[in-house]
Amino acid sequence: SDTLGRPMHDLRISLTDQCNFRCTYCMPEELFGEGHPFLPPASLLTFPEIEFLVRVMVPLGVRKIKITGGEPLLRLGVHTLIGALAQIPELEDIGLITNGFHLPVVAERLRRAGLRRLTISLDSVVAETFDRIVGRAGTLPRVLQGIEVARHAGFDPIKINMVVQRGVNDGEVVEMAEFARDRGLELRFIEYMDVGSRNSFHESLVVPNNEIRDRLEKLFGLLPLDPNYRGEVARVYEYADGAGRVGFISSMTQPFCRDCTRVRLSADGKLYRCLFSGIGLDLRKLLRDTGTSDSGATMTDSGATMTDSGATMTDSSSAAGEVSRAIRRFWSVRSDRYSEQRANREPVSGSSRAERLEMYRMGG
Ligand code: GTP
Ligand code: 5AD
Ligand code: SF4
Ligand code: SF4
Repeated sequence: SDTLGRPMHDLRISLTDQCNFRCTYCMPEELFGEGHPFLPPASLLTFPEIEFLVRVMVPLGVRKIKITGGEPLLRLGVHTLIGALAQIPELEDIGLITNGFHLPVVAERLRRAGLRRLTISLDSVVAETFDRIVGRAGTLPRVLQGIEVARHAGFDPIKINMVVQRGVNDGEVVEMAEFARDRGLELRFIEYMDVGSRNSFHESLVVPNNEIRDRLEKLFGLLPLDPNYRGEVARVYEYADGAGRVGFISSMTQPFCRDCTRVRLSADGKLYRCLFSGIGLDLRKLLRDTGTSDSGATMTDSGATMTDSGATMTDSSSAAGEVSRAIRRFWSVRSDRYSEQRANREPVSGSSRAERLEMYRMGG
């Protein structure tokens, strides 16, 4: 556990810092235009390196994995990584979060590799609004098709994340709820967070989730459900008429740091203790310095193949021990509770706004 008694339980793994969308709250087009310097391929962890790290972290308490980005499906062969992770018996849950654009092509493959649940970011089902938010005109039909393909592939549950912004898509809350209810999707309303420093964040854009909950309560009736596990970020309700569930992620108005058991691995192999942190533990350096990568070129290439170099790595037990000790130390001194400090207007410890890593780098 860390200094506040929080175990390390959920690992969020970013596969890439790139994305084919340019959401205003994440990678605004003006700042992430053509020629933006994303991570060079050689700096990305390969799939065998990721698997190695997961196997090191399972004995430290990790039971739940979320694959994220950027847009994780931009990495080739994600299903091979899923397949490898699905072999680890201690893992209780593997999920993936995507913008949905590539799902029509890969959903079936991911499902067959052993992925059972999926989270899709979708802020609007109105083309005009959608285009304005994601900065890529004409992509909504493809994302909606992705959702349909995922449903038919048998993912369950499929969660939909909607970041609500005042004056942008807050007028479409009921429409989104109906869209999700009709399709058996679990919609979650996310409060716009002041994460990173390069997005369009402004206090006035935040819509407190209580507002939305009250509206849905009046329209449909909502029954609160108990949390599924300690540290679940969403408050989940069941519709009174049995049309499924709806969740509220209220990081701004009701922060949940007290039970935050999440650790994040960036695509370039740094480990972060908080979404609002600028300081990461460089695991890639540790891995590549301790000779776990002496299995040669396949380790440093784009990682598109899950070759047997993965086996070579898990054999290098001394390196595993060293990495494990470093992670244990790193977690044991953790005291991050940014969202609570901000909400209580306490001085914020840790990194200043400009030093913080952007969400697309850290893996939302
Ligand atoms: P499941 O419900 O188990 O699928 O996982 P989840 O709700 O933790 O994950 P998801 O990837 O859907 O995350 C939803 C959103 O909640 C994230 O994109 C963030 O906006 C927000 N969020 C998740 N974790 C944190 C966190 O640790 N701190 C803060 N402040 N917000 C978070
Ligand atoms: N505030 C809230 N949610 C955000 N996301 C990305 N940036 C922000 C932000 N500033 C969400 C995306 C996606 C998830 C990974 O994080 O919509 O659902
Ligand atoms: Fe891409 Fe997701 Fe960021 Fe939008 S929020 S730009 S889809 S990574
Ligand atoms: Fe966890 Fe940091 Fe988010 Fe608090 S602000 S819930 S400590 S990631």
